[in-house]
Amino acid sequence: MTYENLPHGGTLVNRLLFGPALDETRQLAKHLRTITVDKWVVSDIDCIAVGAFSPLTGFLNEQDYDSVVETMHLADGTVWTIPVTLAVDEQYQDLKPGEKVLLRGEDGVDYAVLTVESMYRPDKQKEALHVYRTAEQRHPGVNRLYERPPLYLGGPIDVLHRPVPRLFPEYYFTPSETREIFRERAWRTVVGFQTRNPVHRAHEYIQKSALEMVDGLFLNPLVGETKSDDVPAHVRMESYLVLLENYYPPNRVFLGAFPAAMRYAGPREAVFHAMVRKNYGCTHFIVGRDHAGVGDYYGTYDAQHIFSEFSRDELGIELLFFEHSFYCRKCGSMATSKTCPHDKEEHLTLSGTKVRQLLRDGQTPPPEFTRPEVARVLIRGLSEKKPVTS
Ligand code: ADX
Repeated sequence: MTYENLPHGGTLVNRLLFGPALDETRQLAKHLRTITVDKWVVSDIDCIAVGAFSPLTGFLNEQDYDSVVETMHLADGTVWTIPVTLAVDEQYQDLKPGEKVLLRGEDGVDYAVLTVESMYRPDKQKEALHVYRTAEQRHPGVNRLYERPPLYLGGPIDVLHRPVPRLFPEYYFTPSETREIFRERAWRTVVGFQTRNPVHRAHEYIQKSALEMVDGLFLNPLVGETKSDDVPAHVRMESYLVLLENYYPPNRVFLGAFPAAMRYAGPREAVFHAMVRKNYGCTHFIVGRDHAGVGDYYGTYDAQHIFSEFSRDELGIELLFFEHSFYCRKCGSMATSKTCPHDKEEHLTLSGTKVRQLLRDGQTPPPEFTRPEVARVLIRGLSEKKPVTS
């Protein structure tokens, strides 16, 4: 069965103001208290603005937050696994429900007006244990959670301004734009692919295996904040372009950036990633091994198992699960344990850390692991002295 590609929750949210409403809110904003927010929060604001996080219309209020943390659903029962929250300092504790505040970026841009619905003090350890399955500060998602200020403000936002990407702006699309593009291409079925890494042969193998079953592939790399040892987004973007140019049929693949930050929440983030790609118009979503994982916090297939905790109807997107894939010297092709009978010694597997090390040392990984065109882009990109962020 193929799902009609309805947005999550039924309606594509749009919180971007325009026309007289924009002018009015800009005027109003001049007299509001201002909260300075970091790039991560700005990326959340943008995802909410354009409906990538539909049905969210703002930052989670207390009721939704408790429900998401404890049950992986919003208070109204809609699947939602990652708390999208706004953390602020104690100095804002006198804000009252109904009050409006201006959210200004560190770049001095006024991004949005938040109408305060609730203010609450999260139990961060509980949030960590539920969302990240660990309370260890070593985990990058938990670390970020612990380092944030202690108060959460929840409520809808009205967005005045979208962040302007410095690099590759032509690859940023709103969900309503990608939906229109998929319609124009007459793709009835579209598989979404999340990645925060360069596309290596294993990624290519699972993407192309999926593409054998559907009309189009939406390559949707996450370009928001990632941990510092991940390959920077602009280098990855270049590597995707060279890969697509040489190895993918242009009429079957569409590349668009996903501006959100990486949480490294493994299983919960896999569900979140699937719901977001549903909003972009995907009917299918790929989950491979250790999706959105970090270190050894999650089991290899935990991010697949979690989907069995939801009904197919409430998810509303088909999941395509793939086993760990590798190049097998005996098979002379990419394979998984489902399709390859040979010993592990025949399998070429390199850890992400090992590959990054090779690339940073200017060495090309074997072509069975990374396409040479991609390796060249990565070696050049990683040798840049001062990487520019997108
Ligand atoms: S992620 O954090 O965005 O999940 P990555 O970019 O490495 O990291 O993975 C993108 C997708 O490819 C995820 O669904 C992941 O499970 C899958 N994947 C990555 N490497 C492999 C592999 N060797 N075999 C199977 N699936 C893989």
